[in-house]
Amino acid sequence: MVAIIVHGGAGTIRKEERISQVIDGVKEAVLAGWHELRGGSALDAVEEAVKVLEDNPLFNAGTGSVLTLGGKVEMDAAIMRGKTLEAGAVAGIWGVKNPISVARKVMEKTDHVLLIGEGAVKFARLLGFSGYDPRTEERLNQWEELRRRLLEKGETRHWRKLNELIKEYPEVLRSTVGAVAFDGEEVVAGTSTGGVFLKMFGRVGDTPIIGGGTYANEVAGASCTGLGEVAIKLALAKSATDFVRLGMDAQAASEAAINLATKYFGKDTMGIIMVDSKGNVGFAKNTRHMSYAFMRDGMEKPEAGV
Ligand code: GLY
Repeated sequence: MVAIIVHGGAGTIRKEERISQVIDGVKEAVLAGWHELRGGSALDAVEEAVKVLEDNPLFNAGTGSVLTLGGKVEMDAAIMRGKTLEAGAVAGIWGVKNPISVARKVMEKTDHVLLIGEGAVKFARLLGFSGYDPRTEERLNQWEELRRRLLEKGETRHWRKLNELIKEYPEVLRSTVGAVAFDGEEVVAGTSTGGVFLKMFGRVGDTPIIGGGTYANEVAGASCTGLGEVAIKLALAKSATDFVRLGMDAQAASEAAINLATKYFGKDTMGIIMVDSKGNVGFAKNTRHMSYAFMRDGMEKPEAGV
C-alpha cells in the first residue's frame, strides 16, 4: 500500500473563487508526488509535491510567501525520513526558489539538522541554488494593507496584537504547505512556509522544528499548518505520531492532535495531515478551511477539498 497526502495551509479562504484555484493547486501537487511515488520513493514524492506547492503563488511557501513586519521574505522548511530519523531543515532563509530542496540537502550533505538565516543562504549558494526573489505583487499589496491596519491599531511589537489581528482578518493565517507519503517501506514528511504575515524579525515557526510542525518515524509522519507557536508548544507533529504508536490510525491521530490544539489554544489555530505505515491517510483542522488532496493505491484520481 502506498499513499500521499498534501496540504495547502489552514485558515480561512475569504474569496469563493479562490477555493477552486486552491483545490486545483493541491491536486496538481499530489499528482506530481504520486508520479514520483509510483516510480521512486516517498522522499522524492514529498520533495516534488512540496516544490509544486512552493512554485504556486497562491500558497504561502516559496513563491508567494508572506512578508515579515520589515517587508522581507524569511522562509522555513523541513523534511524527515521515518525509517532512519534523518532530518534536514532551514529557517529564516531567503533568496531561494525551493526551500524544501535546500532542507533535503541539509539532511543529505551535512551532519546537522537545521541551518538558519545567512548560514542557510550561504549553504544554498554553495550547493548551487541560484538567487531568486519569491515576493509577488499580491503579497506586497497585502503586506502594505495589513501593516497599515496594524499601525493604526497601535502596538506592533507584541505577538498578542498580531493574534488579535489574525482573529479579525483570518486570511492572514492562510499558511504553509506540506506533504506526507508512504512508499511501502518508509514514511516521509515535509513542510514549507513563508511563516505568518508581519512576523517579527528572526521569528521561526513550527515548520522547521522537528517534532513541532514536521515529523516522521517508523509508524507515521505528520505535517502541520496554522499558528506555529501552537504546534511548537504541543510538539504537535511528534505527538500525532505518538497517537499512532498507541494504536490509532492516521485519521484518528490527526483528529486527536487537533483536539489537543483546540483544548489548549482554541479554534482557528491548527491543521494537520498524516500518513501511517499501513498506508492510511488522515487530515483534520480546527480552522474554517484547510486545502488537502490525497492519493492511495486503488484510486484513479485525487480526493481533494478544503
Ligand atoms: N505554520 C507556519 C508558521 O507558523 O510559521
